[in-house]
Amino acid sequence: MCGIVGYVGGKQAAPFLLDGLKRLEYRGYDSAGLAVYDGRKLVMRKTAGRLQRLADIVAESPLPGRLGIGQTRWATHGRPSDINAHPHPDCRGQIAVVHNGIIENYSSLRQWLKERGHRFLSETDTETIPHLIEEYYQGDLVAAVRQTVARLKGSFALAILSAREPDKIVAVRQGSPLVAGLGDEENYLASDIPAILPHTRQVYILEDGEMAVIQKESIQVTDFRGHPHAKEVFQVHWDPVMAEKGGYEHFMRKEIHEQPRALRDTLTGRLDDNDMVDFGEMKVFTPERLKAAKRIYIVAAGTAYHAGVIGKHLIEKLARVPVEVDLASEFRYRDPLLTEGDLVIVVSQSGETADTLGALREAKRLKIPVLAITNVVGSAVSREADDVIYTWAGPEIAVASTKAYTTQIITLTLFALHLAVLRGTLDPEERRMLVRGLRELPQKAEEVLSREETVAGLAREFARREDVFFIGRGLDYAVAMEGQLKLKEISYIHAEAYPAGELKHGTLALIGDGVPVVALATQETLEDKMVSNITEVLARGARVLALAAANDGRIAEVAHDVVPIPDIHPLLRPTLAVIPLQLLAYHAAVARGADVDKPRNLAKSVTVE
Ligand code: G6P
Repeated sequence: MCGIVGYVGGKQAAPFLLDGLKRLEYRGYDSAGLAVYDGRKLVMRKTAGRLQRLADIVAESPLPGRLGIGQTRWATHGRPSDINAHPHPDCRGQIAVVHNGIIENYSSLRQWLKERGHRFLSETDTETIPHLIEEYYQGDLVAAVRQTVARLKGSFALAILSAREPDKIVAVRQGSPLVAGLGDEENYLASDIPAILPHTRQVYILEDGEMAVIQKESIQVTDFRGHPHAKEVFQVHWDPVMAEKGGYEHFMRKEIHEQPRALRDTLTGRLDDNDMVDFGEMKVFTPERLKAAKRIYIVAAGTAYHAGVIGKHLIEKLARVPVEVDLASEFRYRDPLLTEGDLVIVVSQSGETADTLGALREAKRLKIPVLAITNVVGSAVSREADDVIYTWAGPEIAVASTKAYTTQIITLTLFALHLAVLRGTLDPEERRMLVRGLRELPQKAEEVLSREETVAGLAREFARREDVFFIGRGLDYAVAMEGQLKLKEISYIHAEAYPAGELKHGTLALIGDGVPVVALATQETLEDKMVSNITEVLARGARVLALAAANDGRIAEVAHDVVPIPDIHPLLRPTLAVIPLQLLAYHAAVARGADVDKPRNLAKSVTVE
């Protein structure tokens, strides 16, 4: 999510680090910092705000030294501020750490460290790491890092410096990317290749469970126990623009492929060992208030609205609370009937959408508690809502939202589960099955992504058409809405989503020879109905692509093409079913030569009404 760089060699580290961070700024940009060893001690500069601010500070008070680390941050724990910016030091300022990812068990570690006399300065999960290293340090930094890593739960990419061993950077990878770059009498570290591409095209790509000790003349890679790993040098052939996109041609495709990781991060720390949801961050939406909730309004725009529609299904089904989903631009002006006992949830990737913010303010004016589900720490909705749950998808650059959507759905699923447990509406066995499914979801998302080639082939067919229809029922209809939006916003193909049962009341008139119909049919309980609806469009000459549960033979029998959705709890299938639709839109847009990441007339964040 954030960007990390490191340098060890004969040149000045700070200019290298700033340049590398600049190339990673798209990964996170709410604060940034550097730590450099000046020959006697570690010196740090860090600041909230854009990287340029850090560069200005360093220009004013330079950081001489030939060993250093830096980070540009995208906040998870702790709002963006000078003090929460990385690097984080230990009590004596002899150790500095930058971190990407999330430490799940940081609060118990923090407590333990405080009891042992460590003083904390920031609100971050990261700060536990330098203190743990300090605690374990007995003259061997690598050994202390190993002991520290053994205590961490969650995902982390770390770069660590110590003034006591000022000849090395220790790097650790678990769940967040890191690469070590090979130079001439100097070596590098980065979370992403673009940071170091001007200096080297030879890198070691670290795997989960690996550590690297990076010195001026060597890079040694081991596992967390210290057993050496022989690494092959990876030759980077990408140009700088492609490198920024992780080797993908477009941010959108990169972000589609980041979904397994993003989903993992969203779930991190939110499911405990007893399969219960932990939303410790909710302070106003207390169990009492949630138990007493009379009605919930979900308010959002665009893709976030589509996530809200899924949220409605899940909350009503699992927690039996009535839910209304509103488009933010409509909500405010329809004089909503908000009364005591109602709750409002706003969903927004950016947290800055003017309509959504307006809806939030309207709810607050009427004294209704507001929960924000957003991806951006410190965003306007996160500041103004009573409670916030972050989706932790990481920065989303492409205008068409992908990973933000799936992480919103999963956050709403967790919320529905939490509410259902509090209200006693969910059978414990059903809860366990759902939680098991949630834990399996990232890996199943990978399975869906492995079918990209098949979907790309179908997309090239779609690219030749001007009208596409998406049909589905229940949850599948909600996914169909998102599928049609993806297709039209980036490929400019006219697309419409219809509840499959409604077709015959009008839209069926538009189905003729060869018209593509995407039929979402992932729910067994609605299978018979969907078979009938598919037959209806087939009878008018439609070309049907179905997305069906993997074990569903009947849909496969009637449709022309089928993309199977891996076996998982039915309520979790929307998250998997949308992935082929994202890929379909993406490849159709590419085939039509459209500007995928920046579609015409659209903006990533709409801060005007
Ligand atoms: C814009 C974006 C969409 C997004 C919508 C809501 O229209 O192009 O991708 O879904 O705004 O944005 P939000 O940041 O509030 O989720």
